[in-house]
Amino acid sequence: MENRLISGTTKICGVIGDPIAHTMSPVMHNAVFKEMGMDYVYVAFQVKKEGLGEAIQGMRGLNIRGLNVTIPHKVAIIPLLDRLDHLAELIGAVNTVVNDNGVLTGYNTDAEGFLRALLERGIEPRGKNVVILGAGGASRAISFILAERGSSLVILNRTLDKAKECASRIGEVFQKEAKALEFDSENLAKALTEADILVNTTSVGMYPDTGETPVSADLLRPGLIAVDIVYNPIKTRLLEETEAAGARTISGIDMFVWQGALAFEKWTGLKAPVKLMKEAAIKVLEK
Ligand code: ATR
Repeated sequence: MENRLISGTTKICGVIGDPIAHTMSPVMHNAVFKEMGMDYVYVAFQVKKEGLGEAIQGMRGLNIRGLNVTIPHKVAIIPLLDRLDHLAELIGAVNTVVNDNGVLTGYNTDAEGFLRALLERGIEPRGKNVVILGAGGASRAISFILAERGSSLVILNRTLDKAKECASRIGEVFQKEAKALEFDSENLAKALTEADILVNTTSVGMYPDTGETPVSADLLRPGLIAVDIVYNPIKTRLLEETEAAGARTISGIDMFVWQGALAFEKWTGLKAPVKLMKEAAIKVLEK
């Protein structure tokens, strides 16, 4: 629909974060709203750490229908919400908020988005050995959904204490042992010999440092599936080298699109046109 007008009835969604100028979410969501002729608009709001409380009050006051939440607000937003989805509560981080007439509910679609990215390619992580690199916010979302799904996890992190903390929380919540190791070449080599799936949740390899990789190429082998959550570039050095080793890969763009698609569904109640969203996101990245 070409002549979409912002009118007196247009519903507002958006993303809050700092920095926010490089977000791809507005392009992705607005492409869908336009294509489907929906009376919605999606905007980016730069919200500083100290402005989060006012921003959330603003969401209520202005009746903004939905927000995505990114760095640095994913944890700090929790006490400002009225309700939390069970998984978001377990993970302790929220990336999507839905406003139902002033009642704000927080979700974590990063976690579900990661799982959907695997499942849509026919990869079922239940019963698989998964090696996770990194123990930050993204790692936590991914490791919780994988533990819930029934994967066996090894978490490697540069700062061992953070990996231990994540593993012990998984142990408490799911009564399931997750291993925590320091991220060094020896531990990585050992962990990868038994791995079915490797997930990079660190920022290693992200633009502009595209020549970097968290895993040396000689550790990659056919049969392994490598998933990177970095989506800029779409194909990181890790994924290039995994493909060259004859193994399957999943780009971070898939998780990014799915987290957006699941947020869209929560705000609008409609099924998300995932293919269209992916095309819109790829168009921006390839510019
Ligand atoms: P996010 O929310 O995207 O997960 P984060 O919470 O800042 O971001 O976490 C970043 C993760 O990448 C951490 O696990 C970090 O390791 P530390 O906990 O030791 O800081 C990891 N990371 C970042 N740069 C890294 C590098 N050059 N080598 C190894 N790990 C790195």
